[in-house]
Amino acid sequence: MTQALTTRWTLIQRVFFVLLIAAAGPAGAQLKGDPERGATQAKTCVACHGRTGRGPMSGVPALSGQQSEFITIQLILIREGLRDIPDMTGMLKDFKDQDLADIGAFFSRMEPFSPRGSRDDARFSAGAELSKIMGCGSCHMKDYVGQRQVPRITNQREEYLAKTLTAYRDNKRSGVDTSMNAVMYKTTDADIAALAHYLAHQK
Ligand code: HEC
Ligand code: HEC
Repeated sequence: MTQALTTRWTLIQRVFFVLLIAAAGPAGAQLKGDPERGATQAKTCVACHGRTGRGPMSGVPALSGQQSEFITIQLILIREGLRDIPDMTGMLKDFKDQDLADIGAFFSRMEPFSPRGSRDDARFSAGAELSKIMGCGSCHMKDYVGQRQVPRITNQREEYLAKTLTAYRDNKRSGVDTSMNAVMYKTTDADIAALAHYLAHQK
């Protein structure tokens, strides 16, 4: 393995370790997020992500109502440079794992986003059909609310969904595993647009 790959692998193992601790109950109770501490930690985040966790900026994902564990893992990946977000570079360098769990708990308790903008019936149906064929609900759960490290994807910002699905397809983003890269392999831009439209216009 190259040096870079070895480093990436070591970091990914560490992220898993953190999760195992979090899941282990009392022994790892220190990783249970505290939403009140999270509110203080997240002071600098609201400039882009909004005071309510769903800001108006295009391309910035809504965090409100998102799975706490998913937020925490993404923040660890971002802090360790395993997920590249130029807007957030260096922002998390002084945050401990516990701080990130607190931030996860803080945003996860907020009311989820509900996108505006009208629904295009043809595109919505195409997205629904693709989602069925591609099994999106099998991991993202009923109504796409997610669970634990699998994110909520219902009623997320449409342009963010399209951007991030494209990033998975083009191998510009991967998580602690590569399941989304495999799911999106060889999808077309039109398919991505339909999936994003469908997910962004759930009831
Ligand atoms: C300057 C704007 C900006 C600031 C400030 C900012 N973010 Fe972000 N954040 C972004 C953008 C843009 C993305 C999406 C990048 C992409 O397309 O992958 C993002 C993505 C994320 C994600 C991934 C969400 C997902 O659904 O995948 C999390 C979690 C997150 N930010 C949390 C935070 C926290 C916590 C802070 C404060 C410590 C913060 N952000 C500050 C712009 C910002
Ligand atoms: C095998 C399980 C699995 C399947 C099937 C799956 N996903 Fe995912 N998805 C995941 C996991 C795990 C993540 C978190 C990956 C990461 O850490 O980046 C994720 C992340 C995402 C994200 C990023 C959300 C965010 O806020 O950053 C989107 C969007 C998404 N999936 C959409 C879809 C769509 C659309 C489909 C169907 C075409 C699908 N997924 C099928 C497991 C799956």
